[in-house]
Amino acid sequence: MQFFVDTADTEAISELAGMGVLDGVTTNPTLVHKSGKDPKSVIGEICSIVGELPVSAEVFSTECEAMVEEGKDLAGIADNVVVKVPLTWDGLKACKRLRANDIRVNVTLCFSANQALIAAKAGATYISPFIGRLDDLGLEGMELIRDIREIYDNYGFSTEILAASIRSPLHVSQAAIAGADVATIPPEVIRKLVDHPLTDKGLAAFLSDAAKIGK
Ligand code: G3P
Repeated sequence: MQFFVDTADTEAISELAGMGVLDGVTTNPTLVHKSGKDPKSVIGEICSIVGELPVSAEVFSTECEAMVEEGKDLAGIADNVVVKVPLTWDGLKACKRLRANDIRVNVTLCFSANQALIAAKAGATYISPFIGRLDDLGLEGMELIRDIREIYDNYGFSTEILAASIRSPLHVSQAAIAGADVATIPPEVIRKLVDHPLTDKGLAAFLSDAAKIGK
C-alpha cells in the first residue's frame, strides 16, 4: 500500500520524504489554510520537496468551468500536481475534462459506493473515501473501502482507492487489509505506526544489559 501524507506542513513532509516512507502528499483547503501560506506557493514548495511524487491540490471553485480553469492553473505549478475536485455533478464533469487534458484527478469527499462508481466512470485517477467522517456518524467507514474494492475489481476500473480521513493506526492496517491502494495519513498518525510498548520495554532491557557489559 502506498503512503501519502495528508498535510501542507512542509517540515513534516521533508522529514518523511527524507526517510523514504512517502509515496505522495494530499492537501485540502483546510490544511492549506492551517499552513498559513499562500495556496499556490505552498503547493509549489511541497512539489519541489517530494520530487516526482504526486501532490494533490484542491480547487476552491464549485462550478465546472471554473474548476477546469483552476485545475489547469494548479497543474501548471509542477508536473506532479494531481488536481483534487469534490464529488459533485460539476466536479465529475470537470474530472472528465481535466483527464482529457492529461491532468491527473483525485475525486474527494466520497461517502458512498455509488459515488465511487460514477467517479471511476468519469475517469478519476484516485477516489478519496473519507473513513473517519463516516465513523463519526456511527457508520463503519471501512466497509466503504471494502465495497469500492469489490466494485472496482468486478469491472476492472483502474481508479486507485485512496483511503482518506484516516484518524488512527487501526484505520491504516484495516485499509491495507481491505485492499486500499493508498492511505493518506496525517503526520502524527504516521508517527504512531512505529510505536509499540513492547519495543520500548525490550529496548530498555537491552540498554540496561548493555550498560552492565560496559557498553
Ligand atoms: O484527506 C481528507 C482528510 O484530510 C479529511 O480528514 O480528519 O478532516 O476528516 P478529516
